[in-house]
Amino acid sequence: MATGEGLISMVNWTKIRNDFPALERTINGRPVVYLDSACMALKPRQVIDAMNEYYECYPACGGRSIHKFGEEASNAYSEARRKFRKFLNASDDSECIWTRNATESLNIVASAVKLPKGSKIITTSLEHHSGSLPFVERARRDGLKTEIVKALPDGTFDIEDWKKAVDRNTSMISVVHSSNVTGTVAPMKEIVEIAHDRGALVISDDAQYAPHHPLDVQDLDVDFSAISVHKMCGPTGMGVLYGKLEHLKSMNMCFYGGDTVSDVRFENGEILPEYLPPPEKFEAGLQNYAGAIGAGAAADYLQAIGMSEIEKHERSLLEVALKRLSDMEHVHILGTNDISIKTGLVTFNVDTVSSAHDVATFLNDEFNIMVRSGWHCVGPFHYQMGIDPKKGTVRASFYLYNNREDVSSFLSGIETLIEASK
Ligand SMILES: Cc1ncc(COP(=O)(O)O)c(C=O)c1O
Repeated sequence: MATGEGLISMVNWTKIRNDFPALERTINGRPVVYLDSACMALKPRQVIDAMNEYYECYPACGGRSIHKFGEEASNAYSEARRKFRKFLNASDDSECIWTRNATESLNIVASAVKLPKGSKIITTSLEHHSGSLPFVERARRDGLKTEIVKALPDGTFDIEDWKKAVDRNTSMISVVHSSNVTGTVAPMKEIVEIAHDRGALVISDDAQYAPHHPLDVQDLDVDFSAISVHKMCGPTGMGVLYGKLEHLKSMNMCFYGGDTVSDVRFENGEILPEYLPPPEKFEAGLQNYAGAIGAGAAADYLQAIGMSEIEKHERSLLEVALKRLSDMEHVHILGTNDISIKTGLVTFNVDTVSSAHDVATFLNDEFNIMVRSGWHCVGPFHYQMGIDPKKGTVRASFYLYNNREDVSSFLSGIETLIEASK
């Protein structure tokens, strides 16, 4: 296992923790230990305040109304997109499309990107259902071929498998950058190089990667990236689709209507629309202005702390957790223990307890420790590993507001459970 030595940070993590009002709560007289950030991250005051400011001061429509509230809403909406562009290091604001979540971002690409007849789409056994199913269904719709690259049992990929799978007939690849089950980080740059060498496009599922690691879409050269804003301290119901402008321009539209058009003529009994370029092309109707403003505030908040610092902090917590869990009899960890290629999460099972839900229920009921149990929307990898998806696995995920005490409470909780269930 890589060591956590040298992971000393200049960030005041106690101050950061105090930004999150939900962590001030006690339930039944006990503090809460929130270890479910891979599902939904907590929200800092800075994000809540930015959204409240919109609702309290200028809760109007952006992009249409010329009055003062409208102007303020338009400016804040554009500014939020600019902040997000900076966060991703996209080359143009128009490359960032607001969506409802990463699932919608993946679906937009899967349904609207133009792919040659008879070509092949590749995805993996480690994909979240949101990263595989839209592409499986696209292939069914258009009679395209599919191929699945199998992850290795430790959640990593063998790059040779990619070289074999991606051929000149491959048009599209959907791959999870950081797995929400094993936490392993895929060798995205190498996959993109292989794909581009053979003329294929890549969508990187960054739902788990963007909140926890520095992400530079230009450096990775990905064609698309799907981002889940609610997993990165932003509001619920918000996601981002990043796409290279040339691809966004050539894609079909998904939704038609208000705000997508530059002109709609009525000639010879016909309605004749002229559509706007991205991002408007993909943002039909009135938008979630508060959500976008909150997303911009979240991007600013994380960047001010520094994504490398956040990555280091999480890995230092993960290292402690992995070390002690690995030593526990009856605990079986899914995925590699190499923290240098992992996001801050650990997924495991306890063989003295019949299902993952029982583990999560025990931790929640006894200690207010909130973890996730189930199949994490990654059925195929559970099947590949011979794990009954109904029994599932337990996932503890760490974020910038977690500390060593959280990790200790969690580990002690697991030890207590094992003792009680033996
Ligand atoms: C790897 C991965 N991809 C996609 C998604 C879907 O994200 P969203 O809920 O934003 O649609 C998730 C959510 O857990 C995820 O972990």
